[in-house]
Formats: sequence, C-alpha cells, structure tokens
Amino acid sequence: MDPGDPAELLKDLLGPHGDRPLSKSPAWPSEVADDNSPVEFSVAWNQTEPPSLRILAEVIDAAPGVHANMASTYDFLDRQTARHGLRTDRLDAVRDLFGAACPDAAFALWCSLVFRSGRRPEFKVYFNPEAQGVHRSPGLVAEALTRLGLAASYRAMLDHAARPGELGRLDRLSFFALDLHDGPQSRVKLYVSHHDAQPRDAARAAAVVDEVHAAEVAEFCALAGRVGLFTGRPLVSSYTLTEGLARPTGYSVYVPIRGYVGDDREARERVLELMSRYDLDHDLLDRAIDAVARRPLEQGAGLIAHVALRLGRPRPGLTVYLSAEAYGVASPTHLAA
Ligand code: TRP
Repeated sequence: MDPGDPAELLKDLLGPHGDRPLSKSPAWPSEVADDNSPVEFSVAWNQTEPPSLRILAEVIDAAPGVHANMASTYDFLDRQTARHGLRTDRLDAVRDLFGAACPDAAFALWCSLVFRSGRRPEFKVYFNPEAQGVHRSPGLVAEALTRLGLAASYRAMLDHAARPGELGRLDRLSFFALDLHDGPQSRVKLYVSHHDAQPRDAARAAAVVDEVHAAEVAEFCALAGRVGLFTGRPLVSSYTLTEGLARPTGYSVYVPIRGYVGDDREARERVLELMSRYDLDHDLLDRAIDAVARRPLEQGAGLIAHVALRLGRPRPGLTVYLSAEAYGVASPTHLAA
C-alpha cells in the first residue's frame, strides 16, 4: 500500500463511515457539499504545470459532533504527519483559538488533500472563523493572523474585502486556511463570502493585490454567473497572505455557478468557454466530470459547484469544483421554475 495513494487517503479520511451504505442518510450533515457529502473534488489548472486533483473533506467521528469531528481531524493529521512529515508550526500556533467552537457551529475544522503530478500529497486545514458566532469572527482571525505575523496584510485586505459597514453582515469571514507543507509556496489564506454582491464588488476586493487586474475579476464573475447581482449563493474571495509583506500576494474569486445555471450541461459549457479564454486543456474537464457523474448533466444542477479564478502568486489558473452527489442531486432549475 502506498500511503500517498489518493484512494488510501480517502479511505483514512472517511474512517468508520467509509463502509456506510449510501442508501442510509449521511452520518453528519456536512456542509462541504450541498447534499451533505463530506467530500468534494476539484481540479486546478495552471499554465506551467500539469493540473492537480484536490479533495476537500470533513473528517467525521464515529460519534459525530463539531468537537468530536475536530478531534478526529487532528488524529487524521497526526497520522499523516507521521507518514509525510507535515509542517504543523502554524497550526500549533493558532489551533487553541479555533478550538472553542459552539456545539451548533456548522463545522470547526475541514481539511484538504492536494495531489500534484509526481509529488507527495500536500495537506491543508480550513478553520471556521464563525465557529464561535459571527460577531467573534473578526477578532478571532485578527488574533490568529497577528500570531502568524500577518496583521498588516490582514488590515490592508479587510479595507478592500468588505463593503463599508458590511463585515459580519453581507461580507463574512468564511474560512481561514493553512498549508501544512514547507517551502516558499506554503500559504495562509483567508476567505470572505460576499452576499448580494455584484461583479464589481469582487473587483474591488481583488484590487488590494498588486498583480491582479480587477477588471478581469469582474469579467470572470459575469461570464461564470451571467447575472449582475448574485442574490443566491455568495461570491467568495480568497487572499494569500505572506509574512513580511504589507499586502496580500494572491487573490482568487469563486463563483458558485450551480446557483446561476439551469443545469450542469449549461455549467459545463460556461466552464469550457472560460477555459478557452485561459487557453487550458478541455479534455481533462470532461474526464473529471465523467469520473464523478452518475447521471446525464442535464438531469441536475450542482455537479459543477464552483468555478474559481486564481490570480497572483503562487500559480494563476482556474479551478473547477465537482460535487460527489453521493446523497442527492439538485433538480435542474428550469424544470422547477
Ligand atoms: N459547500 C460550501 C459552500 O459552497 C463550502 C465549499 C466547498 C466552498 N467548496 C467550496 C466554498 C469552494 C467556496 C469555494 O459554501
């Protein structure tokens, strides 16, 4: 057995629930995916390297609960640290802050696995800034980023990311992510969800990052969503924060395309258009879709959950998120309408 094999790692992640028949209801109402599947797949393309496969996951304890799941996640990460030598200093510096989650929080801690061609798997964690309630999220994140030496870029980022007076209202700190590997590309990322936002709000959020063309961000949102105002699922921004720099160094925008299409055939067509604009290889998109889909694309909406544009460092490109749909398929909306 290769301990870096994606299927082996997935099995370890799923733990006691890996054998649970899909005919039973989910063991825990995970928000990783709309149908409560605890995993979501994504493929990330860039211009310089082969695409990578990623798995976002919630580790679910045998007796599920926010704190029990968090403890199981740490057990999973300890096993991976023993095998793959993960970098945990930043995690150790902040984990107490996010440990005190309310029992009714949506989640406390998620993790993800990244498989790049020819390399050992990489791991990340995602904390929920709102785990102790929305009102505590700015303070929690400020403390975590201060401990990591990132206070200045956090302030610069917040000035742009939130519309005036909207932090904790329409603009919400949604994930705080740490890479658990070493090296210059090991990142700290902060995610902000923009409810009721327009493409130009994402452009404004992006403008704090030097190498980013704000107009490109707005255009991407408009092409992916085909609406002027995202009144359903929110647009999401993420920022890469780098120690010693006063401003964030990378920006990504995530468009929840599934909320703005009739069905997945339409979502695929839009993603293909975006891929053409960025001169990326189409072929793998269809192979990835075929690998997860167990129904024709026009028979549901949500297999393609998000499409994201990554700008600035470390690897600009496009990411497509694919839902496992293990427990359910959302109906096409043109039928429902
Ligand atoms: N399902 C959640 C959501 O859509 C969390 C999530 C999963 C997410 N993958 C994502 C959020 C990619 C933003 C981008 O919000």
